[in-house]
Amino acid sequence: MNMIEILKQRGKSVEVFISKYIISENIPNRLRDSMRYSLEAGGKRLRPVLCLTSAMLFESDVEKILPFASAIEMIHTYSLIHDDLPAMDDDDLRRGKPSNHKAFDEATAILAGDGLLTDAFGLMCMADVPPATLVEAIREFALAAGSSGMVGGQALDMMYTGGAAISFDDLKEMHAMKTGALIRASCLCGAILAGADGDGRRHVADFGRELGIAFQIVDDILDIVSDTATLGKPAGSDIEKRKNTYPALLGLEESKSLACSHAEAAKASLAAFSGHDADFLRALADMTVQRVA
Ligand code: IPE
Ligand code: IPE
Ligand code: MG
Ligand code: MG
Ligand code: MG
Repeated sequence: MNMIEILKQRGKSVEVFISKYIISENIPNRLRDSMRYSLEAGGKRLRPVLCLTSAMLFESDVEKILPFASAIEMIHTYSLIHDDLPAMDDDDLRRGKPSNHKAFDEATAILAGDGLLTDAFGLMCMADVPPATLVEAIREFALAAGSSGMVGGQALDMMYTGGAAISFDDLKEMHAMKTGALIRASCLCGAILAGADGDGRRHVADFGRELGIAFQIVDDILDIVSDTATLGKPAGSDIEKRKNTYPALLGLEESKSLACSHAEAAKASLAAFSGHDADFLRALADMTVQRVA
């Protein structure tokens, strides 16, 4: 199997798990439809696959952490639904389909996000690992998703939108929070859940931190160089909203080279690991900078 096929296969296991979970719960029909709509619209499933693969570096049976990995995709999907709302980026297309608030309505989209976020933490508790380990991973993920992580980064993004250019350090911090934190925690929590020791956790967390920054730099670049059909979300949205992005501050070429150096740093963090799963993570770092969507 090549790298793309492995990504698809691991992503599929997450999709199947989430679909079963969503239909098994007692959720009002319109809310359920709206949650399913965004979850099932597609997406690269990068974060749950990072979680599962990071765990595989330390433990072969990762079926037991599938609920946790699936919950990560639910939290990521909630962040996209809210990110597209008129009060935030006001984007009408996501994952190749009308954004959640366009397909349904704003109240439903807000509630679908709230439902996905809250249900995710219940689902995480279903991972079949020792309770103390699970609590540690859940706390780590809550910090990454919350106000000192992704939500905080989104707040900074909104604060800086339309205003004067920010410093490079502030931009880097915003990217590390709004996107880096979830990607780093996806990797770190995989390692925690698989029983990794301090060194193992540190290497994997470093990998995730560097990958997360590279990922958002490339997202900023694609907004300029790609097109709406390829992206499945509106190209040029950042320029239209006068977002502070890497290319806006540094230009395209320097942004591309920075993304590559973060991806290289990510790969270097895995120097202590050999074998197929480490190779797959290194390939994901390369794919992050080479991707077109
Ligand atoms: C988009 O994330 C939002 C960012 C953090 C840049 P992805 O590019 O992973 O979106 P999907 O999940 O593939 O739709
Ligand atoms: C979003 O960053 C980061 C999130 C936490 C959702 P963007 O606003 O750049 O993501 P896209 O480009 O809309 O996917
Ligand atoms: Mg945004
Ligand atoms: Mg956006
Ligand atoms: Mg973007």
